[in-house]
Amino acid sequence: MINSATRWTSAALRALVRDNEVHRAVYTDPEIFNLEMSRLFRSTWVFVGHDSQIPNAGDYFTTSVGAEPIVMVRQADGGVSVLINRCAHKGVRLVSEGSGNLGRFIRCPYHAWTYGTDGALQNIPLRDGYDGTGFEATEARLGLASAGAVAVYRGFVFCRLSGEGVAFHDYFGESLSTLDNMVDRAPAGRLEVAGGMLRYMHPCNWKMLAENQTDACHPMVAHESSAGTTVRIWGEQPEGTPKPMAVEQFAPFVGTYKFFDNMGIRIWPNGHGHTGVSDSIHAAYSVIPGYQEAMVAAYGQERTARILGEVRHNTMYFPNIMVKGPIQTLRVFKPLAADRTLVESWTFRLVGAPDLLLERTCMYNRLINSPGSIVGHDDLEVYERAQQGLQSGLREWVNLGRLFQPGEGASPAEVVRGTSEAQMRNQFRAWLRFMSATEEAAS
Ligand code: FES
Ligand SMILES: [Fe+2]
Repeated sequence: MINSATRWTSAALRALVRDNEVHRAVYTDPEIFNLEMSRLFRSTWVFVGHDSQIPNAGDYFTTSVGAEPIVMVRQADGGVSVLINRCAHKGVRLVSEGSGNLGRFIRCPYHAWTYGTDGALQNIPLRDGYDGTGFEATEARLGLASAGAVAVYRGFVFCRLSGEGVAFHDYFGESLSTLDNMVDRAPAGRLEVAGGMLRYMHPCNWKMLAENQTDACHPMVAHESSAGTTVRIWGEQPEGTPKPMAVEQFAPFVGTYKFFDNMGIRIWPNGHGHTGVSDSIHAAYSVIPGYQEAMVAAYGQERTARILGEVRHNTMYFPNIMVKGPIQTLRVFKPLAADRTLVESWTFRLVGAPDLLLERTCMYNRLINSPGSIVGHDDLEVYERAQQGLQSGLREWVNLGRLFQPGEGASPAEVVRGTSEAQMRNQFRAWLRFMSATEEAAS
């Protein structure tokens, strides 16, 4: 493989991640960003899409995994392929629309090489021009590259770009219980992606978003001006005014430190973890008429209570998605450059549930995660300022030490206080392992 020389040896990378601090270079250095693309985002299991987006043979959805342009395709046998969206001839991006149906083959718009929906090279115009040229020994003969491994878990499609590495269930382990809970909330036991996703560009490193998902010391501070104002205005309304859904969603953002601390955080291996072990900002939403009844009809009283009693807040799946089961949203933090991240917020319909639930999901995404959100701007501003502040070379370290305990991360699932930064440290332990593994395997 042709590889550019790098000063970031495994030893150099190890020096960037301490027990309770990380070096600013992990957020700012373009070479480290490139290494993340070629190591971390190739060797971990990364979210691609949802199988409800491609119900029929030939249906596709285009996206990216790390730096790779991707097209996810439904095959005639019902399987899902994850292909690299790049012509084997001169590299043209083959599929340009966001979604659609490929028909029976993919045809390149440049010289009309064609590929099966599985990526195999089918035809080349004037093919005899390659006879006796050594074409059979070239990479082009192989057609489109594809992900090394694909897994569809309860409708969620993940891939590992690399042909070798950790198996899907070993990588996610018990953290899959969050996806289970979100799907189990559908009386029909199935989710559908509802509409498109909201896209929001962030001028910061993708890991700042990943850390923020379990940062329970920021909402009451960073969101004071937005959610705090909502609460104040709501407090001025005459007694007996029905509480709007928007107030229900904004208000918990300015909960107390004690509230967020009591929520707890559960930490799993490989960088995964979630807030909201015993309570969360989603725990006190009002009842949706007809939903409980539909759930009980599908699952019975006891199981319904277990499913809806789970109040998980943010589940961070390392490296770059966050799932909110009780509100049926998923956010993807797409890394574009060391200081540029595209955030996508997805909404899901619980099949068999009343429409009002989807309305709540859409409202949450609009109010909290969209470019028009007042809460989202609070976070955007602090990320942007952090990216700017980290340009300073006179302070080198970012502190992640809150409630650090020597030996943490040794057991498979730990529950810690909600205001702990243990999940951020968990992510960096995984980061270091997957960033160093490729070089160590090669040496
Ligand atoms: S670049 Fe695709 S056929 Fe030539
Ligand atoms: Fe926030």
